[in-house]
Amino acid sequence: MCGIFGAMGNGCVADCLQGLSRLQYRGYDSAGICVKGEGLSTYKSVGKVSFLMDKIPSNANGTVAIGHTRWATHGKVSEQNCHPFVSYKGTFALVHNGIIDNSKTLTTKHLSGVTLSSQTDSEVVVHLLEKFYQGSSLTSAVKVMEILEGSYAIAFVNAKENAIYLMQHNMPLVVGVDKDNNHFVSSCIKCLPSSCTKVAVSKEDFVAKVTRNSVEFYDKNGKAIQPNWSKLTGSLLAASAPVDKGKTHMYTEILQVPTSLQNCHAHFAKCAGIGLSKVQLRHFNRIYLVGCGTAYNACVSAAVATRGLLDVDVIPVVASQFVCESYPVNNKTLALCVSQSGETADTIVAAEKLNAHGAFTYAVTNTDNSRLTFVCKESINICAGTEFSVASTKAYCCQLLMLILLLVDVSYATGNISLVEKQKVYSTAGLLPSIANNILAKQSSVMQLAKLISTSSAVYFVGRGADYPTACEGSLKLKEITYIHSEAYPSGELKHGTLALVTKGVSVVNICTHSGLVGKASATLNEVATRGAQAVSFSPYKMPVGNILHLPVVHPLFAGVTSVIPLQLLAYYTALELGRDIDMPRNLAKSVTVE
Ligand code: F6R
Repeated sequence: MCGIFGAMGNGCVADCLQGLSRLQYRGYDSAGICVKGEGLSTYKSVGKVSFLMDKIPSNANGTVAIGHTRWATHGKVSEQNCHPFVSYKGTFALVHNGIIDNSKTLTTKHLSGVTLSSQTDSEVVVHLLEKFYQGSSLTSAVKVMEILEGSYAIAFVNAKENAIYLMQHNMPLVVGVDKDNNHFVSSCIKCLPSSCTKVAVSKEDFVAKVTRNSVEFYDKNGKAIQPNWSKLTGSLLAASAPVDKGKTHMYTEILQVPTSLQNCHAHFAKCAGIGLSKVQLRHFNRIYLVGCGTAYNACVSAAVATRGLLDVDVIPVVASQFVCESYPVNNKTLALCVSQSGETADTIVAAEKLNAHGAFTYAVTNTDNSRLTFVCKESINICAGTEFSVASTKAYCCQLLMLILLLVDVSYATGNISLVEKQKVYSTAGLLPSIANNILAKQSSVMQLAKLISTSSAVYFVGRGADYPTACEGSLKLKEITYIHSEAYPSGELKHGTLALVTKGVSVVNICTHSGLVGKASATLNEVATRGAQAVSFSPYKMPVGNILHLPVVHPLFAGVTSVIPLQLLAYYTALELGRDIDMPRNLAKSVTVE
């Protein structure tokens, strides 16, 4: 979603623009920057950060700069709605991530006579700061926080001060410090400059004053507090993310799947499993797997794969649905809350609801110190490595692997499998990186299949049993980055309605990793071919019609971890064939931090 970056001192404009470039995978509708020199100068542009860069005079400099990359929520994509916003007397400039739920009420109550220049909820906040300002920016911020409802990470500057002020409620905002004690502000830890060696994070709401060499944190009442300081390692940082020359983040990240799986497996072993006692695990009588989008697909895949291993219900739930439905929850509920970013608002709100009803919440994320890890009682990192591509790939594989390993641990603790069986599963998981490498070696064949798929008017992904969630993930990837209409169905469901849409020009992608299901998969493909559609299969087994990419045979528990890889490549190569902007697909952004 939106991104905030702030820098100070000589070179603050260049530092800020570099920060925005790193952040733009989170939102790329428009970008803007405010530079405090003699006064406040703002520059804005619709589109990518590179367009903004073109608009800034080469001699632009100052002492403080704050910037923003936008993913529109309130108001269309336009320069008018682009951050930063300047207050009506020109004292403050502000950037905001999140949503101010009561912006209309606040405008009516406090801002009569003030003309708003945009359609955004964010602009209201900068005028409120001006309204309450009596010489102290900090006091004004505290007063404004008292009346704001919603979620926000805000950075603002005062035209008379060499400082950046921050306001945070339920949205990420951190302060990074480099070895020379230069301070930076970012809404994403991973987008701090690679020179940063430590970061200040607060679990609680806060107001902060950041100068070039210092930071002071205050609680929402203005009382001084200490943030949590963590060391930063290069591996966390954007600057270290390799993108093969001329390739996209997505492609780079698919190639990283084997290493990510290896790291995920090793981390699970290092943590000695789920980290809860047998007594605790035996107490649970229901397990929810909660997530959104790709993370949800990993939840479904893990639940289906481990179904025979547990005698308690393992129920995958879409986080946003969980919040508005009446799922039973009590202190015998274990909830694995899955989120690559650890920032997804829907998942965080679901975790808060689960906590409130007594569940044991356990975050499965790719981001330490993310909000989800603060909200949940326990957490484990999937160790996929930083993922920048909006279309999630290596994180899906690691989420699925980690969930299966965690559930196998529960299975052992609850007496469903023996120690020997558990160890066998763990050693089988160790083979996945080399299987993933074998699949990646078939890239050129996938590229050929992508040429066929790229001409389709619609693509239906089908699979039975454990292959169905893989079909869902393949379909999600394809629609996200190619914009070809796509849906996924359990193979058996096709004949119950969707077959009406299966005609010439349509493709059906069939995933079949289980030898026992080849007969049924073949029947589905025959039905499809009879109706003139193009059939493409991903399977270790021979299929009666259409093109096929042969997959290696994998232990059924883990088949979904690797059979998804060619589907990720299929989406990638189809998008490439169609000339899509793969890392910045339309209307999307990484990390959806609003509900
Ligand atoms: C799809 C994709 C999204 C995310 C979803 C949840 O490729 O990336 O569907 O999976 O927004 O994000 P996290 O895992 O960060 O909670």
